[in-house]
Amino acid sequence: MKRKLIVANWKSHKKLNEVKEWFEKFSELVKMKAENQVVVAVSDVFVFEAKKLIEEFGVDQFVSLAVQDISPFPFGAYTGAVSAQMVKRVVEWAIVGHSERRRYFHETSQDVMNKVDQLVEVGIKPIVCVDKDYAKQQLSLIDEKITELVVAYEPLEAIGSGTPEKPEEAEKVLEQIKAMREGVLVLYGGSINESNAGEYLESFDGLLVGGASLDPKKFWGVCNA
Ligand code: PGA
Repeated sequence: MKRKLIVANWKSHKKLNEVKEWFEKFSELVKMKAENQVVVAVSDVFVFEAKKLIEEFGVDQFVSLAVQDISPFPFGAYTGAVSAQMVKRVVEWAIVGHSERRRYFHETSQDVMNKVDQLVEVGIKPIVCVDKDYAKQQLSLIDEKITELVVAYEPLEAIGSGTPEKPEEAEKVLEQIKAMREGVLVLYGGSINESNAGEYLESFDGLLVGGASLDPKKFWGVCNA
């Protein structure tokens, strides 16, 4: 069976001591059984600490890190921005274009495209989020030459609502995305938990998990669904 990509998106949650506790508990579990590839998107301020914890607990072959966003600019006079060069040694992945970024921070698809370019330049793999109604437009802006791209399909009403989109509905969008970008990996995200994860893993290449990733045991359950 092909390994799936399971991405935890912690959003703006957890303090430093909770980050430590999470990695400690998750490491114990993941060492028992690790069939899929696990990525954890922590807050930027914890990314270096998280890298150390992964090494300390000896799980670097199972778990890698992501940032939840990245600057659309390189190094320079951009106050408050975290550029791709700053984190390239510690993260393998970056989530970009999450609907919460688009909604609360007014990010446009042009911004997302610029972020993807910055990531690709330093070798961080982009996980680009798209939603149902605009998936085509959101994806069409991304350079066709970028092949190491992961697309996360997240229907807006499914995010954090406790009601995921029905697998058969989500699969329709999956097919559209695959038809647009051959060979791309597509994740499903939106109200995934231990009990429903398996249904989506039958067709999708992986999952983007918010709420259910905050508890190490629940997230491990999702990883092994
Ligand atoms: P949720 O969030 O799993 O809490 O619905 C998913 C996401 O927004 O990535």
